[in-house]
Amino acid sequence: MSKKVLVITGSPRKNGNSFAMTESFIRAAEAKGHTVTRFDAAMMQVGGCRACETCYKTGKPCSFDDDFNRIAPAVLEADVLVFTMPVYWYSIPAQIKAVIDRLYSLVVGGKDITGKECALIACCEEEDPTVLDGVRIPMERTAALNKWTMAGEVLVPGVLNPGDIHKTDGCRQAAELADKI
Ligand SMILES: Cc1cc2nc3c(=O)[nH]c(=O)nc-3n(C[C@H](O)[C@H](O)[C@H](O)COP(=O)(O)O)c2cc1C
Repeated sequence: MSKKVLVITGSPRKNGNSFAMTESFIRAAEAKGHTVTRFDAAMMQVGGCRACETCYKTGKPCSFDDDFNRIAPAVLEADVLVFTMPVYWYSIPAQIKAVIDRLYSLVVGGKDITGKECALIACCEEEDPTVLDGVRIPMERTAALNKWTMAGEVLVPGVLNPGDIHKTDGCRQAAELADKI
């Protein structure tokens, strides 16, 4: 079945490791007939949630009208949400974390974002795979809270510089993730 897939990236490096995996995933997902929409959070202006609780009161998802309000309709429409990012300081990079935080406006605004599938593609420099827990655990808990099914995770340690991902099977794993949605 063809699904609407929304990909949100978190790296500022267009030639980087998570983008390479993202592109492998997208190619494979489109080849399977899915419709893919992509937003690169680090190339957009999205600030953090101000917890003002005025979501949708001005007619827009967030009263602070930045690029999040362009992403929000795509989140509502999506069957599958795919988050891709590097690890920054054992955690989620600020650029994509802002987008994730702002999903709060959809919940406070009473929109039904449950029942979706989601997936995670992430990488880090260190060889220790537990370093990826800093992005894996919050994303798994976010998925559980929102009643999203985690369709798959591609978690690749040991990649630092752009191109390092090609010394791993990360791009193949990312392409195979398309089989799981
Ligand atoms: C600000 C910053 C913080 C980082 N923090 C970590 C870290 O805590 N642990 C780690 O293993 N790698 C860390 N890295 C390395 C990146 O995760 C790694 O280079 C990754 O391959 C970058 O992915 P990208 O090419 O998709 O941007 C950090 C990189 C930057 C720029």
